[in-house]
Formats: sequence, C-alpha cells, structure tokens
Amino acid sequence: MKPLKEEAYVERQTAHQESINLGNEALAIVNESVAGDLHRLHYHLMPPANWMNDPNGLVYYKGEYHLFYQHYPYSPKWGPMHWGHAKSKDLVHWEHLPIALAPSEWYDKGTLDGHGCWSGSAVDDNGVLTLIYTGHVDDNDIKETQCIARSEDGIHFEKYAGNPVIADSPEKNCFGFRDPKVWKYEDQWYMVVGSGKDGNGKIHLYRSADLKSWTYLGIAAESDGTMGDMWECPDLFPMGGHHALILSPMNVQERNMYLTGEMNYETGKFDYRYKDKLDYGYDFYAAQTLLDGQNRRILMAWMDMWGSKSITEAPSRGWLGAMTIPRELVPGEHGKLFMRPVQEHKLLRNEHYALGSHTIESDQMRITGFRSTSYELEARIEFAAEVKEFGIKLRCSDDGKEETVVTYKVEDRMLQMKRDYEGTRDQHISVAPLECTDGSMKLHIFVDTSSVELFANEGERVITNRVYPSGGSDGLRIFADGGPVKFELEAWTLKNIWVQGEA
Ligand code: FRU
Repeated sequence: MKPLKEEAYVERQTAHQESINLGNEALAIVNESVAGDLHRLHYHLMPPANWMNDPNGLVYYKGEYHLFYQHYPYSPKWGPMHWGHAKSKDLVHWEHLPIALAPSEWYDKGTLDGHGCWSGSAVDDNGVLTLIYTGHVDDNDIKETQCIARSEDGIHFEKYAGNPVIADSPEKNCFGFRDPKVWKYEDQWYMVVGSGKDGNGKIHLYRSADLKSWTYLGIAAESDGTMGDMWECPDLFPMGGHHALILSPMNVQERNMYLTGEMNYETGKFDYRYKDKLDYGYDFYAAQTLLDGQNRRILMAWMDMWGSKSITEAPSRGWLGAMTIPRELVPGEHGKLFMRPVQEHKLLRNEHYALGSHTIESDQMRITGFRSTSYELEARIEFAAEVKEFGIKLRCSDDGKEETVVTYKVEDRMLQMKRDYEGTRDQHISVAPLECTDGSMKLHIFVDTSSVELFANEGERVITNRVYPSGGSDGLRIFADGGPVKFELEAWTLKNIWVQGEA
C-alpha cells in the first residue's frame, strides 16, 4: 500500500477528525446524567459516559501516564470501537481527554457493528506518541490489520497514510490477528500480535526499525492445547532477569494468564516454564502493562468480563466498564509474579480508622463505628491450627441479605470471594489457592461503590470482582469457625477523584 498523496491525506485526516468530533459531542450530551448513578465508582477510571472495555496503549510519556481504552461513545454497549483517552500524573488522579481514535478508513470502518479501531499499544518514538492498533472490518470476511497513528502533542492523533503497516496475517484461516503490543529491545521495535489456529492460541512476532515496515519473525509462543484457542491482548516484557507474557485466552475457563520464561531475540522464541493466573476474580480481563520512569512495571485491566450478567442485562444507567486500580508487578521466586497496589494509592486516604485487635471464635462480629462504600482495609490475621475457616464480610446490608464474603478455608488452603446480592445479577464464587504455613495472613482490600479488589499476602494472590449492592450496604463484619482467630484491622475511607476539590 503506497502512502497517499498530500490532498488525499488531508481529506482522510479530516474524515478522522469529524468522526472524533461526533463521538465527543455524543459524550458531552450524556456526561452529566450518569454522575448520580449509585454504582459509579469513586476512585477507578471509568468512561465519562457510555461503553468502555480493554485498556489500550498504556504508556509513560513526557512524565505522565496515558491510558487509552476501547470505547463506544454513543451507547453503554459495545459497538464500533473508538479509543477513549485519559492521563494522570500520579496513577490515581485521572483526567479525561478527547477521543484519540475513531473509525474513518477502509481498514477500520465498515458497515457492520463489529468494525473499528480495536485494541493495541502505544510507544514514545523519540517524543512522538505512536499508537499501534488493529483495524477491524467484517463486511464480507473478517479482516484484521495492524495500523499506526501518531501525535506530537499527545492528544491529537493522525493515522499514518501508509496504513495498514501489516496488511495480512502470516497464516491462512487463523482465528483472529489482533491486539499488537510493541516494545523496544536494544535499538529495534518488536511487536507481538494475538492469534489462534486449530484450537491453539498463539502470538506472532515482528521486528521493525521505524514502526512502519515490519519483518515477520515467526510464532514466539503457542498454547499446549490447554490454554485457549485464541490469545487476545498479549503483552511480553522483561521481568526480573527473565520475560513474562500476559494473555487473555478465549474459550477456556482461565480468562487471564501469565507465562514466565526466557525470550530469545535471535530465534524469536519465548520459552515458558511457569504459568499461573494473574487474578483469580471474575471481573478481570485484557490486562496490559507499562514501564514507568521509576522502572516499575504497572498493570491495569478491564474490571468487567465478556458475557457477565452485569453486561448483558445491565439496566440503562448510561455507562458501563471500568479499569482496575493500577498495580505493580513484582517478580517472585521460580517465575512467579506478585501484583500489588501502587504506592501512590495512599494519596487517596482520607479518614483513618484503627479498628484494633479482635479475637473471635465460632462467631461473627460486626465492626461498629465504621461504615463506608469506598475504602481501603488492611487486615493482619492469626489463626490456630484447629480453625476451619474465617474471613471478612464486606458491603453488608443491615438485614444480612447483601454481602461480599472473603473466606479462608484452612484445610483446603483456599481463599475465596463470594458475592451475594438480592435481586442483582450474578452470584459468583472466586477461588484461589493460598498457602499460609505459619498460621498468619495479610489481606489488603480495596472496596469501591461497585467493586472489590483483594490482595492477599503482599500480592501473592489477587481476586477482583464487581459487586452491585442494591442500596447502601456499607457494613463490615469478621467471622471465624472452629477456633480462635485474631484480627487486627485498619481502614481508610478513600477520596472521590471525580468530585472536584475532594481529592
Ligand atoms: C478483548 C477484545 C480484543 C479486541 C477488543 C475489541 O476484550 O476482544 O481482542 O481487540 O476486545 O473491542
């Protein structure tokens, strides 16, 4: 595909800008009406209105964190994909920016609903913020191509006149060819693209000197038959002297996964030795990372899930979709990864409650003096060997009908989170294996108006779920069964980043 002549290029840029303007106008109309929604989050990134899915193009650019996301500005449901855009100086206070990408070209605009600018990544190319995304059209056959768009000011993006930069999948009859993740190694750019064939998910690897012309290097990694038939949203990066690959596999029970091992840039092969889930919750998908100015690997994911009842049966509340809080990835032993809330989250701490030390046995206890729907809780727990189970009940209603229960089953060595709300959508139990050999456990929990994120033992296990209590349901309880359990609790209410002047 030859680059366009000057006039045709200007015409195409205008078409793109018009498509962006229409989206921004649609958002401005509904923007205010969503603000009063009961489940609108206080300290998570959400669309100003209407639909959000995957985080895209997480990048640290000119001293600020940028996050783009799959966005449909016209309705709170999935449709022709745009890239929404927000930025932050500290990872906790976010500012919404105009839409960055909108469908406008033959390679990203079709006539059916599925078309658009699908997921991808971003890099700082010598001061030019460059987005790399999948153009998706499905008019006759599905066609997925890799495209780029560039910006000098970090806000307004021009699609490259020579798009698509990768026009065809290297394999025929594959199941998807999308979600490019680009990074720099030595002086070359590398890209992985998610795909699948014959029932096995895989990633294709490319190399480029200029982000425009790409050389195919082969299949860097693929499923062994147990890891899904298509690998969406891959992210491959160095971690603790090795490499890690994050995946969102399709058509398999584990909808998020990481593999750690060795990347050989000579052969183009990623040889993995360790695999696990990143997050054992239900509402965690399409995780992506960035490397920031302090060399930290920061991860955010879509805090929802395809097919969940909250999506398919959502009442019309004018918005849908949110991101997890930002988490830092830290290497553990033998290829294991830990995931912890970023330090900056402490900036949002408001009122502090020292809830003291309580020992209970075969009982439950309501924590009086603390009520909130948006808070952070730290719990240090010690339990005797004979204890059967213990835990914390979050977002409890006074009549006991609504609650989200975090339980540790001592004999099974299982941590679980069960959400249970009257009349509201999915009941669900998330389960994660967790060893607590010395009879103690640390939990760090982030509760917001419609979410719970649980970090156990310094991020060894993480469980993320959306919860939809029907009213206030702001109580907190602890419980134990079978023996004495000592709880030491501390909590902070958290500021609302969306209310001017509060945070
Ligand atoms: C993952 C995903 C991506 C795709 C995008 C479309 O959630 O299916 O593979 O690019 O969403 O919105």
